[in-house]
Amino acid sequence: MDEREAGKKRSAERALRYVEDGSIVGVGTGSTVRYFIEGLADLRHRIEGAVSSSEQSTALLRQHGIPVLDLNATGPLPLYVDGADECDPHRRLIKGGGGALTREKIIAACSRRFVCVIDRSKQVDILGRFPLPVEVIPMARSHVARQLVALGGQPVWREGVVTDNGNWILDVHNLRILDPVALEASINQIAGVVTCGLFAARPADLVIVDGEVRD
Ligand code: A5P
Repeated sequence: MDEREAGKKRSAERALRYVEDGSIVGVGTGSTVRYFIEGLADLRHRIEGAVSSSEQSTALLRQHGIPVLDLNATGPLPLYVDGADECDPHRRLIKGGGGALTREKIIAACSRRFVCVIDRSKQVDILGRFPLPVEVIPMARSHVARQLVALGGQPVWREGVVTDNGNWILDVHNLRILDPVALEASINQIAGVVTCGLFAARPADLVIVDGEVRD
């Protein structure tokens, strides 16, 4: 296991400490969360179940014998654990490298505490080196792309990828995101955008880097 992978695993394992007995846990998507799900399997008799942010995580949770519950039936969650593609010093994130950004954003919005688990390579001073994923309704792809160009980005269609919601993704390159809250709001207002991968209006509450809680 290389250094980055080891950092992800340590962070995911550290996040297990925040799981409360008898609770329902919001679970993100990706290679870091995979380690979290493996650890959660050992605690499965102590929790009621999980709310999943993707079909991929749902399959993993079920493989590990963890009940997957419907967010409409659970109400607000005490804890959501997820990775990120980038994280700035204010705990604002770019997410969606795995295409699960919309369901991830919904769970983040419903959770009292969002614990973000990353390795140190994901830390940046200014968001935008990682191309910003934007989920779009298929018929709006070209329209949204033009609007994103007007905002200063270079959108690239993630061709062949269909999200769990049946939509498409544009990855926006060359953005230097100086005001993530404002940009998140602007992109989300474009007709045809489902949501963008900026988690700035609702950032993480706690960030764990290489297994250590960041100040
Ligand atoms: C999934 O859509 C993403 O938001 C992931 O949380 C993000 O891409 C981090 O994934 P890794 O843990 O695989 O780096």
